[in-house]
Amino acid sequence: MQYHRRRGWELPESMATPEALVLSRRSVMALGAGAALTAMARPALAAGEPETDALHPYPRNPAYTIERPVTAEAINGAYNNFYEFGTSKSVAPMAQALKTRPWVLKVDGMVEKEREIGIDDLIMALPREERLYRHRCVEAWSMTIPWSGFPMKALMDYLKPLAGAKYVRMETFYDPKMAPGQKAPFYPWPYVEGVTIEEASNELAFMVTGAYGKPLAKQFGAPIRLALPWKYGFKSIKSIARITFTDKRPKGLWEALQSSEYGFWANVNPEVSHPRWSQADEEVLGTGKRIPTKLFNGYGEYVAGLYKGLEKEKLWM
Ligand code: MTE
Repeated sequence: MQYHRRRGWELPESMATPEALVLSRRSVMALGAGAALTAMARPALAAGEPETDALHPYPRNPAYTIERPVTAEAINGAYNNFYEFGTSKSVAPMAQALKTRPWVLKVDGMVEKEREIGIDDLIMALPREERLYRHRCVEAWSMTIPWSGFPMKALMDYLKPLAGAKYVRMETFYDPKMAPGQKAPFYPWPYVEGVTIEEASNELAFMVTGAYGKPLAKQFGAPIRLALPWKYGFKSIKSIARITFTDKRPKGLWEALQSSEYGFWANVNPEVSHPRWSQADEEVLGTGKRIPTKLFNGYGEYVAGLYKGLEKEKLWM
């Protein structure tokens, strides 16, 4: 059956770009107009485009909103960490090589049923919403992003880990031909991250399949990534291809590489510096301003309870 669906770029400019998203002239100049345009352009969708793309925008959940203006999509989309495609922040053009369909999520380990799930079946099965979240990198920059997706808790309820599972281990795809950064022998590919079952069940843990009211751009970690807004950004693994429930604490790529600098918990704390970056404040990208960083990135009321009794752990890096 043929039907016409209005695309984002068919909207009048005034509707497509809320005031908060309009780039300041200064930001455009800082980025270079070319980079900004590259980030904004989304290729026309071919026949065979995933049906789930039509589900965007997801309804906004007003419980998760914040006082800061949303970071312009063009700024966010041109300033990324995605080491599979290179180590520069301008990785977006290279990341367009990421093939996001077919995309199968492998689920294994301590779970009721090991299986492989197509990403679109998963998106259809789970409760979709949009949330505004802060995003804070250990490099001391931050953004505010309208992520769309579903709560990680809903994913857990759907997958049904066994009672003995203590951790969720997540792994990015491994395909050095597609992602030449994975040819760099220095890094222990594929990218891995993990959280406890309690963290994964916290209402803030969010599986992201879109941003800015659209399917997730490739440089953001399409077709599915994590957002853990109370932790440093490196915990929010991109382009997840495998989820394993386990009773062994997973070791993330950065922890495996340099455990003195990057740990398992990585909760945001302005008082605990990284060896190379003070965490006391952060540059809010697109504003030219630095602001003080908050404990748990301002989400303490949701998550502080997760760490009671764990004070002896290295919770902050
Ligand atoms: N996931 C994968 N697979 N590869 C990466 O290089 N970088 C991490 C995290 N997830 C990374 C990743 C880091 S260091 C950060 S700060 C965030 O993604 C960056 O997300 P963003 O590019 O959407 O800002």
